[in-house]
Amino acid sequence: MLIERQLKNPADGDKSLPCAIYAMCEEDIAQVDEIDREAFPTQWPPPNYKYELQNQFAHYVVVREENSASRESNAENHPEQSSAPAAISKRWFSRLFGNKKPPPDRKLITGFAGIWILVDEAHITNIAVRKRYQRRGIGELLLISLIDIAAKLKADIMTLEVRASNSTAQNLYQKYNFKQVGVRRAYYTDNREDGILMSTESISSPSFQEHLRQLKQAYCTRWKIKSSHLNINRRALPGR
Ligand SMILES: CC(C)(COP(=O)(O)OP(=O)(O)OC[C@H]1O[C@@H](n2cnc3c(N)ncnc32)[C@H](O)[C@@H]1OP(=O)(O)O)[C@@H](O)C(=O)NCCC(=O)NCCS
Repeated sequence: MLIERQLKNPADGDKSLPCAIYAMCEEDIAQVDEIDREAFPTQWPPPNYKYELQNQFAHYVVVREENSASRESNAENHPEQSSAPAAISKRWFSRLFGNKKPPPDRKLITGFAGIWILVDEAHITNIAVRKRYQRRGIGELLLISLIDIAAKLKADIMTLEVRASNSTAQNLYQKYNFKQVGVRRAYYTDNREDGILMSTESISSPSFQEHLRQLKQAYCTRWKIKSSHLNINRRALPGR
């Protein structure tokens, strides 16, 4: 539908990952819930993505693996990797599909992300990639898409909270010039971990835009895709 990319992990030899970005829709929710539970097992209550899709301030995107028509969810496909959350997801999937396999045309969603637009601020609510698909540029692709959506919607800055221990996500955000601007003590209720508040400068500033341009260029070179593939198709934007 939208942006097709061939993501190839240099470390994976010839293993390439054709994928595409879509605006999240209702049929994606089961898989998004599954990724959410895998990525944030202690979050309670889990986000209600059905509600989020109706929230006029929320904008979500998913990355779908192309050519995966007959694939099923990670938990279904890789029971040997079933962690407790994956097993829960599997049961949950079974409940949804009555122990039947997901429809054959269901494509595997490998990651998703979202923002809330709060006046002139685009707040990143979530960004997550299936464990098995991490380190292949999907998180970065999702973040680029969120930045592009925020810019299109005329947000001035982007913000987020991230666990103090989550250096992986912090690295991703720092790469895109998010800076720590505060600490929310004991922000996370499960373990009273601090939340690091991060923010960009104005995303329309020449310095942010130039940095973004360079990162997009490097991304395209690294993953061997055309720069036009980074443009967000209208259908990925609100008004879907
Ligand atoms: C954070 C997350 C979305 C990154 O997704 P990903 O697809 O693996 O990331 P990418 O392959 O696109 O990597 C992009 C950048 O992220 C950072 N990064 C990703 N994985 C990393 C790791 N294991 N160690 C250190 N930095 C890492 C790096 O800066 C990387 O850039 P580089 O390749 O030039 O070094 C993923 O790890 C995830 O889903 N984590 C669980 C959910 C989560 O914590 N979300 C953030 C909530 S605030």
